[in-house]
Amino acid sequence: MHTTTLGTDGPAVSRLGLGCMSMTGSYGPADADEAAATLLDALDSGVTLFDTGDFYGDGANEEILGRTLAPHRDRVVLATKTGVRRTAEGLVPDGSPDYLRRACDASLRRLRTDHIDLYHLARIDPAVPVEESVGAMADLVAQGKVGHIGLSEVSAATLRRAHAVHPISAVQTEYSLWERHVEDDILPTLRDLGATLVAYSPLGRGLLTGTVQATTQYDSGDFRATAPRYNGDNLKANLSIIEAITKLASVKHATPARIALAWLLTRGSDVIPIPGSSRRPHLHDNLAALDVHLTADDLSHIEAAVPATGAKGARYGDHGIRLIDQA
Ligand SMILES: NC(=O)c1ccc[n+]([C@@H]2O[C@H](COP(=O)([O-])OP(=O)(O)OC[C@H]3O[C@@H](n4cnc5c(N)ncnc54)[C@H](OP(=O)(O)O)[C@@H]3O)[C@@H](O)[C@H]2O)c1
Repeated sequence: MHTTTLGTDGPAVSRLGLGCMSMTGSYGPADADEAAATLLDALDSGVTLFDTGDFYGDGANEEILGRTLAPHRDRVVLATKTGVRRTAEGLVPDGSPDYLRRACDASLRRLRTDHIDLYHLARIDPAVPVEESVGAMADLVAQGKVGHIGLSEVSAATLRRAHAVHPISAVQTEYSLWERHVEDDILPTLRDLGATLVAYSPLGRGLLTGTVQATTQYDSGDFRATAPRYNGDNLKANLSIIEAITKLASVKHATPARIALAWLLTRGSDVIPIPGSSRRPHLHDNLAALDVHLTADDLSHIEAAVPATGAKGARYGDHGIRLIDQA
């Protein structure tokens, strides 16, 4: 497994990380035993970066990682997120220092560890200056509870303000073949600051794998049931992008998932995709992306097949869009 460095002075991490969110059912039913087996297979295959969040499954996701990976802690770079709380209205941001301190202690307990390698602020809280939130996270670094600080879905301007308080090692944002907004301002700013881009939903929340059809009915708890991009006419338009990727995949004797990840890997060694897999066959399919070589012709073919504006339809519903930092 190739590795890359997290930020300027972070640990070496595997070129592909493992996103663990679906292990507690974001895209349909989850299977905790299969999730644990997937974690161990990932570790044995050389994956070292594991990404979770304290609000995934209301803590249950961190618990799966804690009980499975604790015996192997020295081989794991643990990334988790905090800064949003679940309420009756859905997730709401809370970047107050008091909340972040308490959340960190709770995550450490669930993860069965004494430190988090990469601690992300999942969303910027508009009611709390980012300097205060990052200042509280810097205190956690000083206490040895956190190794490095990351931010998620942050604007370039907010990233610079945060970085002035404490070095930001990584930004986690959606980035895939069909979601490239990050290339405008955020990626250049990250590069200027020496931070890493952790690319989430690199498989378009599963759609870029070619496993969703226009007739697919999502479960009620499936995130995609409520986000515009994955439904109705938007979905029909977006499936044509996937068709083009699927055709290229068959020429390359690969799968669409491998093509989507191989493309992301060409974006730079400071871009770390974290495909979400809660099942071993998916994990191994995704890891095989590391062996796919995309030629200049392949890349031109992909650029021509995927509109520069990306997928049709918003990637979040109204509530989710409001949580994204626009500063
Ligand atoms: N910071 C944020 O706001 C944020 C938001 C979303 C996600 N994330 C992080 O990013 C990670 C990855 O993103 P994601 O999980 O949203 O989306 P993703 O990686 O784009 O897609 C995950 C979905 O694709 C399926 N899948 C994976 N590999 C496959 C393959 N080779 N063939 C067919 N299906 C496959 C998974 O199924 P199985 O689960 O059944 O394997 C899952 O349903 C998450 O796990 C989470 O850690 C962060």
